[in-house]
Amino acid sequence: MKWLVNMLTSTIGRKLVMALTGLFLILFLTVHLTGNLQLIKDDGGKAFNIYAEFMTTFPLIKIVSIGNFFFILLHIYTSVLLTQRNRNARPVQYAYTTGQATNSSWASRNMGILGTIILVFLIVHLKGYWYEMHFGAIPTQNYDGKEVKDLYAVVKASYTQIWYVAFYVISMAFVGFHLVHGFSSAFQTLGLNHPKYTPLIKGLGYGFAVLVPIGFAIIPIVMFLKG
Ligand code: HEM
Repeated sequence: MKWLVNMLTSTIGRKLVMALTGLFLILFLTVHLTGNLQLIKDDGGKAFNIYAEFMTTFPLIKIVSIGNFFFILLHIYTSVLLTQRNRNARPVQYAYTTGQATNSSWASRNMGILGTIILVFLIVHLKGYWYEMHFGAIPTQNYDGKEVKDLYAVVKASYTQIWYVAFYVISMAFVGFHLVHGFSSAFQTLGLNHPKYTPLIKGLGYGFAVLVPIGFAIIPIVMFLKG
């Protein structure tokens, strides 16, 4: 057991934790987007509300949800520890901070800032929907004799405000930049480097980092336009 603790608290162990929790969150985002796209169906929110009800009450999903929050916190905590260790190991900052040329990407140098912006988004996001669904007094809808919370109405009402839509769309751009570097970095840490497959993985990472945030951003825009 001690070897596991030693391994996970070493620099490479912490990078591994970042990669694995990051890949789990990437998986979560894919499922989350697929479910959320039901918000733009023309059915008055029925499919989305039934889906949201299932996601908050089905026991197995409840466990996954706890795991999800745990992985988010672990991802953030480990990133702070790694940043501190990097700073301590190299008190003199790299030349890029003084504006000199560099061959690393902007996203890779600013993962901490991007992550912090996404954290602010997450706090606002969870307060607006997750908290309301679990603890708020929200209206209900009756579908085939079953009373279901109308989370669709909560989301719809929030996207009647242009500033809220703008906040979501801009936040999705930051999510995209974070994913561009995060995806390939995770695969690099896991040692999945191969002359034939690395370009494919990079391509997939870019595709994911562009398409998933666009998919999310479409939701507030469409709901706002439909009114
Ligand atoms: C237009 C974009 C998005 C919409 C409309 C949306 C909608 C929602 C809704 C309605 C919930 C509450 C569901 C429930 O409690 O059953 C929720 C939960 C959540 N959302 Fe989003 N979301 C969006 C984007 C994102 C993004 C980009 C992230 C991450 C960066 C994210 C992370 C989460 C998390 C962690 C939860 C809590 C999930 C859980 O209970 O395990 N969401 N979202």
